[in-house]
Amino acid sequence: TERTLSIIKPDATRRNLTGKINAKFEEAGLRIIAQKRIHLTKAQAGKFYEVHKERPFYDELCEFMASAPVVVQVLEGEGAIVKNREVMGATNPADAAPGTIRAEFAQSVGENSVHGSDAPETAAAEIAFYFSGLELVG
Ligand code: GTP
Ligand code: MG
Repeated sequence: TERTLSIIKPDATRRNLTGKINAKFEEAGLRIIAQKRIHLTKAQAGKFYEVHKERPFYDELCEFMASAPVVVQVLEGEGAIVKNREVMGATNPADAAPGTIRAEFAQSVGENSVHGSDAPETAAAEIAFYFSGLELVG
């Protein structure tokens, strides 16, 4: 089985949608093996999204991620990285397939409710960014 890092973003925690989003993960066969609610500083958000620092939306993205609490979580399951990306839907909710989290809940391309790791190497690095091994309870 595989593990991936998921974040329920500020637009979703603000609207009290964490339970509905977690239901989508569980219905897809993903198991939440670690989860915590934290409020990122802008500097912490900037470090997490460092790969995007040359992109025009970087500053807006970091402001947004620090604007309210997030729920960071580790999802485990068969093919968890790809499966989670399927459950999330396309980055822009206008392009997201029906039934996906972003189709149902996202507000815009920026305020799109969830983050999910995009590859095995990034998943490992992103999990280590937020969690110690002791916090992963499979
Ligand atoms: P993540 O799972 O969050 O990494 O989303 P993604 O892999 O579908 O998208 P990508 O890595 O390309 O972009 C990371 C995040 O930056 C997105 O999820 C959005 O929150 C934000 N983002 C991407 N494009 C735009 C944009 O054009 N404008 C704004 N404001 N934010 C954007
Ligand atoms: Mg990404």
